[in-house]
This record gives sequence, C-alpha cells and structure tokens, in this order.
Amino acid sequence: MSRILGLSAFYHDSAATLMVDGRVVAAAQEERFTRKKHDPNFPKHAVDYCLREGGLQPEDLDYVVFYDKPLLKFDRLLETYLAFAPAGLRSFLMAMPLWLKTKLHLPREVRKALDGRYRKNIVFTGHHESHAASAFFPSPFDEAAILTMDGVGEWDTASIGHGKGNKIELLKTLRFPHSLGLLYSAFTYFTGFRVNSGEYKLMGLAPYGEPKYVDLILDQLVDLKPDGSLAMNMKYFNYCQGLTMTNGEFDRLFGGPPRSSESMITQREMDLAASIQKVTEEAVLRMARHARELTGAKHLCLAGGVALNCVANGLLLREKIFDDIWIPPPAGDAGGALGGALFVHYQLLENQRRPGGSDRLIRGSLLGPEFSNDEIDRFLKSQNVPHHFHPDEKELLARTVEAMAGEKVVGWFQGRMEFGPRALGSRSIIGDARSEKMQSQMNLRIKFRESFRPFAPSVLAEDVSTYFELDRESPYMLLVAPVRRELRCELSEEQKRAMKDPDLRRRVNVKRSTIPAITHVDMSARIQTVDEERHGRYYRLIREFKRQTGCGVIINISFNIRGEPIVCTPQDAYRCFLASDMDVLVLENHILYKTEQPEVSKAERAKYLGSFSLD
Ligand SMILES: [Fe+2]
Repeated sequence: MSRILGLSAFYHDSAATLMVDGRVVAAAQEERFTRKKHDPNFPKHAVDYCLREGGLQPEDLDYVVFYDKPLLKFDRLLETYLAFAPAGLRSFLMAMPLWLKTKLHLPREVRKALDGRYRKNIVFTGHHESHAASAFFPSPFDEAAILTMDGVGEWDTASIGHGKGNKIELLKTLRFPHSLGLLYSAFTYFTGFRVNSGEYKLMGLAPYGEPKYVDLILDQLVDLKPDGSLAMNMKYFNYCQGLTMTNGEFDRLFGGPPRSSESMITQREMDLAASIQKVTEEAVLRMARHARELTGAKHLCLAGGVALNCVANGLLLREKIFDDIWIPPPAGDAGGALGGALFVHYQLLENQRRPGGSDRLIRGSLLGPEFSNDEIDRFLKSQNVPHHFHPDEKELLARTVEAMAGEKVVGWFQGRMEFGPRALGSRSIIGDARSEKMQSQMNLRIKFRESFRPFAPSVLAEDVSTYFELDRESPYMLLVAPVRRELRCELSEEQKRAMKDPDLRRRVNVKRSTIPAITHVDMSARIQTVDEERHGRYYRLIREFKRQTGCGVIINISFNIRGEPIVCTPQDAYRCFLASDMDVLVLENHILYKTEQPEVSKAERAKYLGSFSLD
C-alpha cells in the first residue's frame, strides 16, 4: 500500500499529483484553480483536489515528494551571484526574500500547507530526475534512452539517461549557464514574447522566416558540439546577473534592441525565429544521436520544457534515430510533480513496472476534476441559465455537430480536465477545420488577438494518415507533421502576393489546403489523434462530425481567452462563454446557446477580459 503525493512549485506551473498503489489517481496544475496563469505558488488547491479525489486526508499519505532539490538550486544562485558580483546584486536581492522566507524551508512549508497533519518524510528528487521519470515510467517502452532539456533545474540544463524496467539512471548532464532552453528563451525575449510562455509563439513564427542567422548564432553565441552539448558565449547574455535575457552586445549582433511586445513583428524577428528553431532542432538531433550511442536503446523518451517544441519532435521522429519516441503531455515543470511521484513508486519502492501500449498509467492525461450532470444542473438552475438537457448522447452529438458544421464556435466541456498545457478535448473550443473564416473568427471573437498561428487539429486516430504525413498516434498534440500533398491548394498569383504581405495575419489567412484553419504556412499541423479508449465522447463527436460532413478533422483550441488559464469548472466555462463570442456551450449533456443568454454589458465584458494579463 503506498499513497504518494508529488509536488512541483516555486518556479512556474506549480502542480500536484496523487498516486495510490501504483495508480495515478489525480493530477492538476494550480493555475486552473487560482485562475492565475503559470501560478508558481505552493499548489494548495491542487493538493486539496488530489486528496479529495483519492478520498484521503494528509495524515493518510505515506510519502510526499518535491520535484527538485532547493538547496542545490540555492547553491547555484549563490555561486552565480559571486561569479558576477557586484553585477547582479539587484536580481539577487529581488530573489532573496522568497528564498529566505519559503524556499529554504520547504519541509516546513509543505507541512504547514498540509495543516501540520503530515508527519512522515519528505523526499526531494533531482529536477532532471523528475523530468526523466515523467518521461520514462508512463511510456510504453520497457527500455529507452531518456533526454531531458529545459531552461535550468538546480545546476543542470539537460540530461541523457537510460530507463529499463522500474529504474532510470542519468548518465550525463549539461550544466548551467549553458542551456538550450535558456538559449531559446533568450530569443523569445529578444523577439518580444514573454519568456516561459511565448516560446510557442516563437516556434509558430519560425515558418515565416529564413534561417539566415544560423551561422552567426553558431559562430558567436554558442559552440554546438557533435554530442549536442553546448558552450554559450556569456558575453551576449544577461540572465546570470541581470533582469533581462540578453544584453547590448546581443543587440549589436542582431542590429538593434529587442522588439517591444505589442509592436509589429518584422522580417528580422521571423528570420531570428527560423534561425533559432533550426539551431534548436540541430542540437536536439545531436543529443538524441548521442543518447542512442550511449544507451543502445531503440526508443527515446523526452521531457523538460524543450520537449514541448513539437516541431523539433516531429523532425526527430522523421530522422528515424529511434524506432519511436514518447513525450509526456505535462513535459514542462508541472510534470515534475508526476515524475517525482513515479520516481518514489518505481525507483525507491521498487514496485514492478509493466509497460504496455494502452496508456494505462496516465490515461490520456485526463487526470483533473470532472463535474456530473447533476452538479452542472444545480449551477445552471441557481443562476437561471437557459439551457437544453440531452440525456441521449446521440442527440447531444447530433446537435453539437449541426452547430459546428454551421460554422458556429462551440465550447466543449467534458469529463476530467487535462493535466499539462494542451487542451485535449475535455476543456476545448472546437470548430469546423474546413471553414475559411474560422481562423480569423476564433482569433478575434474568442481569443481577442490577431494571431499569425493557425489552430491545432484533432483527428480520428484511424484517419491520421488520410490527412497528414504521419503514420502513428499523437494523442498529446506533441508532434508536428505535414498536411498531405493532395489536400494542399495551388496558390493563385494574388494569394502568392498575399503570402509576402508584411502583415502576417494576411499570410495566415491564405487558403493553403482543404483544411485551412489548421494548416500552417509551411503546410504543417500540430496534430492530436483521438481514439475511443482514451477520449470517449470526444472521439464519438468527431466520428459524428465525419458522418455528417465527410471530414474526420476538427479544430481544437484551448478553452480560455488570451492570458486566462484553461477553464476548470462549469462556472469558469460559463463566464468565458458569456465574455467571448462563443456561439454554443456544451457542458456534459447540457447545451447552451448564446442567442438565449442574457446580454452581457460591455463594461462587464471588459472587466472580465481585463482580469487576465496578456501573455
Ligand atoms: Fe524543468
């Protein structure tokens, strides 16, 4: 009998995971409860949820595990400060209060958060050990090489490891300040996006640019070794001692200061994005080749923030260095909570591990709260919300598909919330991928942004090769692959001209395929395959969509507005539905139509939108 609570906190994306007797009972990120995106605070609400889900009290727990070693991290902070002193005093002083108050006293803080009712030991796993555990233990492989890459955890910024049976071992690490994650984040910062959340935008921007700075990056900024390790020239970076990622030398190298965040994106930013993406891909490929040499394993597991770079992942798969690769859906720091718990269960307690292809351990990553029809009904009635209840699923799906096919934007709220940064069909906004107007409609009316990025598709798993050049499942939306040639459109002269427009929104709106809303300018798509075993009703919805329309692909975007964490409760979903221009909201078996809802005043709407800071 073992009841293990895994925690990650105090960096970004705090989270909790509960494992009972080898089963992952619950996992969630704190931001979903506090409604503060990437909330780094102690995951009090997520812990409460996990214990509730498991029917446990704090005193029932056998182990609490924290996903990194705070003293080692403090050591890095001190040494780095001393190496650059007196430069860096300001950022050092800014970081100190939280360290002195909380981070250096983690056992005390953890016990306090558990109401003083947990009296057993607290285990601290290494940061990259936690990432590696989250990547290997839930994977379908009995043996695999493991590659973790992120900004930094304690001293390490990447690791190569080996997993076999119920054990993992880290064989090699790369040390701070040399870091692929921080290098990518430096370009995120320089191109005017927010570090630790805008990396996705930079990756989405890359297909618009030419990789013309690759040589400059490799000559000046970073020495990329044959084994994928890197030595950064710290003359150009400021993250050891300052409050910014890059410095004046970096500006001089790339012809001016960083782009300010809401200003126009120019060709320079596009070319920088394409260049750093290419350098990153090359580093990942080299590290992967080296991991194969070191371990001789046929499979690869990846984790850490860089493993969320699904373009690099897709390339890694196509390069066939390994027979197959696997990435956990919470590949970033939230996943450390899961990794820590798995590490205790397998590595420390030596429980047997039986890997299989059925995703038994994390079950599609649908590990968060769910809400019954009765709970939803009580909420809707208490607020006098007009709605239609369809106990018959067929009827529910038929109505939903009817709305989608009529180019309506549908909020889809079903089952357990996803653990990890992507919406996978439990808290999603969905629409018709064939629609030409969907791209701009969803951007402007729902996300309140004008984006240069297309949306991600959900496709029936059995149809993935019909639409995309991909021959396997991608249930976690962590692989990018090309849209099939026969679906691509010939561009007219006018469209070709539009593809050179300085305004990227015009380029992305050019119809490039028969599923334009999900096709990027380089003809790629960030794919989620959907199957009945993992996704249940979501799968049946897309199957019904295909039955009515002949198309097995839909748009899947996260259920939130810009800057808002993905919705967690029916109340969150309803608020977001009212404040945006979503047409229909499906809450389990209830359907709500916007036309039947009370008018929301402009002031109320503005208040809601203003409550989230832009990301
Ligand atoms: Fe990390």
